[in-house]
Amino acid sequence: MRLAVTGATGFVGGAVCRAATAAGWAVTAFGRRATADGRDLGGAAYRSWDIGAAKLADPPEVDAVVHCAASATDTGVAAEVWRTNLLGTHHVLVSFPDCRIVHVSSASVYDPFRPTVRAKEHEAPVSRYLNAYAAAKAAAERLVLAVGDHPVVLRPHAVYGTGDTTLLPRLLENVRAGRLLVPGNGRVLVSMTAVTALARACLLAAAGPAAGVFNIADSEPVPIDWALRGLLASAGVSVRPAYVPAALLAPVARVFPKGRLNRYVISQFAVERTLDITAAVDRLGYRPGPTVFPARS
Ligand SMILES: NC(=O)c1ccc[n+]([C@@H]2O[C@H](COP(=O)([O-])OP(=O)(O)OC[C@H]3O[C@@H](n4cnc5c(N)ncnc54)[C@H](OP(=O)(O)O)[C@@H]3O)[C@@H](O)[C@H]2O)c1
Repeated sequence: MRLAVTGATGFVGGAVCRAATAAGWAVTAFGRRATADGRDLGGAAYRSWDIGAAKLADPPEVDAVVHCAASATDTGVAAEVWRTNLLGTHHVLVSFPDCRIVHVSSASVYDPFRPTVRAKEHEAPVSRYLNAYAAAKAAAERLVLAVGDHPVVLRPHAVYGTGDTTLLPRLLENVRAGRLLVPGNGRVLVSMTAVTALARACLLAAAGPAAGVFNIADSEPVPIDWALRGLLASAGVSVRPAYVPAALLAPVARVFPKGRLNRYVISQFAVERTLDITAAVDRLGYRPGPTVFPARS
């Protein structure tokens, strides 16, 4: 199997490269930066490509592309987020017109104004979002499904594991005097996704034949307080989550729309965010494990 991976210098793309090379696949890894450490890519060949700038002039011949590259931030400059996440996805599609596209999307495409309760794939995209990241991920999904050749869209939520660039660093950044302020009450359920399981799902999707949209998460949701304590403990930090009712934080979020406790963050932590993964299990052959900390390697 010949595979191209975008976003290979990132958390998810690196895990996909390592899983694919371990399976004996021939992998071309793409990132934006000029160079990358081959060990992080499982020894895959590396090429630099800014997907927002243009299509690839000389794409390698591959059977499938796992498209992980994205501006993965809820507070980024909107123009840059749209450039990478939508225009960049267009450039990926036109660079590889004749092969299977596995688009790594996000559970952020579900309605941020309502709890996500064992959501099924048809419940998203919706017409309203709280930030450019979610809106651009939704637009990119629509594009991939409209023009891709047997495309697969994967929607993970709260990805954790070795090399995490997003969730754990963000939590650690927000620790003050041994406390982490968290919107809500800590009792709501959340679907977490081990990065190794997501990488396996990407390979299953790349190998085919199933096409369509699939939620990807660990086998069962967990209470968010349990997840936060586990994540922080696995990083070796002693931190106590301190819960603040969402109603008290809402006025602050209105004044500071890009602050640490913005409306998107409140929407992610204060209400249930769980995914139904039946479609991935039944049609992709995805076999998730439970959420454990530290994450399985
Ligand atoms: N982490 C999560 O919890 C989570 C949850 C749901 C969905 N996702 C999705 O999973 C995918 C991967 O996320 P991640 O956590 O691995 O993010 P990440 O660690 O920040 O990696 C982002 C990757 O995208 C590349 N990239 C960014 N802008 C680019 C551009 N203009 N041209 C080419 N490459 C560019 C980066 O390359 P350089 O580093 O070389 O600049 C990097 O390889 C994203 O699509 C994200 O939406 C992640």
